[in-house]
Order: sequence, then structure tokens, then C-alpha cells
Amino acid sequence: MESIATAPGKTILFGEHSVVYDEPAVAGAVNKRAMVKVSSTPNDYITLKSYDLAFEAILNTREGTYKLIKGKPGIIRYILNALSKFHDHSPIDIELGLKVPIGSGLGSSAAVTVATIAALFDYHNVPFDKELLAKSAHGVELDVQGIASPLDTLVSTYGGLVYLSREKKIVRFENNLDVPFVIGYTAKYSNTGKMVRNVRHLKETYPEIIDPMIETMGRIANEGRIAILKNDVDKLADLMNFNQGLLDSLGVNTQELSRMIYIARKNGATASKITGSGGGGSMIALCPYNPDRVANAINRYDNTIKVKFSKEGVLLGEDTGLI
Ligand code: PMV
Repeated sequence: MESIATAPGKTILFGEHSVVYDEPAVAGAVNKRAMVKVSSTPNDYITLKSYDLAFEAILNTREGTYKLIKGKPGIIRYILNALSKFHDHSPIDIELGLKVPIGSGLGSSAAVTVATIAALFDYHNVPFDKELLAKSAHGVELDVQGIASPLDTLVSTYGGLVYLSREKKIVRFENNLDVPFVIGYTAKYSNTGKMVRNVRHLKETYPEIIDPMIETMGRIANEGRIAILKNDVDKLADLMNFNQGLLDSLGVNTQELSRMIYIARKNGATASKITGSGGGGSMIALCPYNPDRVANAINRYDNTIKVKFSKEGVLLGEDTGLI
């Protein structure tokens, strides 16, 4: 018996951090995915192997612990938490594929969590239900990170370029945002939980200053939604740059991210900002004119990753062909 699921990573255009305080956000699933295969096993324990992440472990889901056989565990806590909730402790083999760099701000943890739960549900004959999947995956992120908005898990489940309203309703854009983006990432791990806690601390310490900034980020996301609907790339650029200024003020910028952001602008990007929680991880540049020039300039110091927005959310079955 074998169940396979894949789920996409994501990039946030507007709303990282402010979405935690129920402000709206705009984000898109990307064409880089996580794959999880769950199979029955002759062993009497649960194994987890990842070729992409070069690790192997034996999991004890009753105690929530693991024994590492090889490599570094990375994303294992999300898988353990999902197993403790949606598996019956019986022996299985789990294989994890991951084309989203871990800690890159591109939603690797959500993609792994959504794909793990989808594969487990299929393995246990739970009917495929995206609403239940997204909710269950958000629960896992909350357990592991302590604080998390449902944005990443919703986007990874449903796919597409989406607007998340204050009421947590997800609305897909019908039009394709037809303009090239370049994503640059640092080797520095972005710790979402830590960054979210830092912003919460600032918000609690300086509510009169930070609350209006977070509200403004929400307004930017709403205006961003309109700019996308009208394909108004100039306005989109202004809004992304405003958003970057506010993210910088919230203390989630780093020297490496800043370097990429300004290199991108110097080389023709009309906008560039952090995408995801910051403190490391990734930035996204809007490049209507010469994306290759921007990518080459960033690559001199850091790395870029080519991603496209993808309509596909979580998929079940052998032949998703997307990883
Ligand atoms: O860095 P990522 O990909 O985990 O994105 C986090 C987005 C935040 O708004 C900072 C946190 C959240 O839970 O929405």
C-alpha cells in the first residue's frame, strides 16, 4: 500500500507579518514542490528518508522523538507533529522530496506539512477535502511554530495567485500577473517563529507606532489586489517598495537581503522587497524589463531561484509530474 502527495511552496507579494494580525495578504503558489510518499513496510518502526535533504531517521510518533541515521533533520518536527495527529503509530516508510529550499521564506514547511497530511489522509482512506487539509496543516504549523497565520498552508493547499481577506477568505485572481519576478535568497536560514515573535514583541512594546504600520501594510495589500486586477505594474512596484520600507522598520531585514534588494533596483527592477518572514531567506524583485540582468547581478553575491506562479495546489497520486 502506498500514498503519494505533492504540494507547492509559495511567495508572498504583500502581507508577511501583518497577516498574523488579520490584515489581508497577496501570495502565490510557485512551481517548486514538496513530495511525500507513505508506504507500508516490513519493518516494525517508522522511517523517514529524504534524498533531497540527505537525511534518514527513525521516528517514534508516540513520544514525538526521532533517531537520526544520517544527515541533519531540518523540517522533521512538522512531519512528526502531523504523524502524531493523523497516523495511528503503525510502521510505515516515509519518503520526502523537497525542491523548495528550507528556511528560504518560500513556504517549505507549509508545503511539507500539506503534502504529509494529504498522503496520510489518503493512506487512511480519509476523503480528499482541501478545507480539512488546509485547516489541519495550519494546526501543525501553529503547534510547531507557536504562532502562524493560515496564509502559507492555504496557498499550498489551493494553489494559484490569491488574495486572503481579513476574514480569512481566499480569493483566486482570475488574471495571470503577466510580469517577470526574480527571487533571490541568502544561505541564511529564516526562522519564521523567531521573526514573528520579534515583531510581536515590537508591537507590544510600541503599539502606537507599530499598529498603524501593520494597518498600512494591510492597506498596501488591498491596493496591491486592485493593481493586480488592473495589471497596473507601476502601481504594483510602488506598493512593493512601500511594503519593503515597513518590513525594514519592523526589523526583519538583514544586510544580505538589503544588498539583494538594492542590487535588484540598481539593475532595473522596478520594485524589490523581502518575501516571507525575513531575517534571512528571500527577496522578490519585480522585473518588467530585464529579469536576466537582475538575476545575474544578484548571482554575483547571492543566489537566485527561478520560480513561476503555479495554479496547482496539493495533488494526490503517483503522476503529478511536478516535482
Ligand atoms: O517565511 P515563511 O515562508 O515561513 O512566511 C511566513 C509569513 C509570516 O507572515 C511572516 C508568518 C505567517 O505565519 O504568516
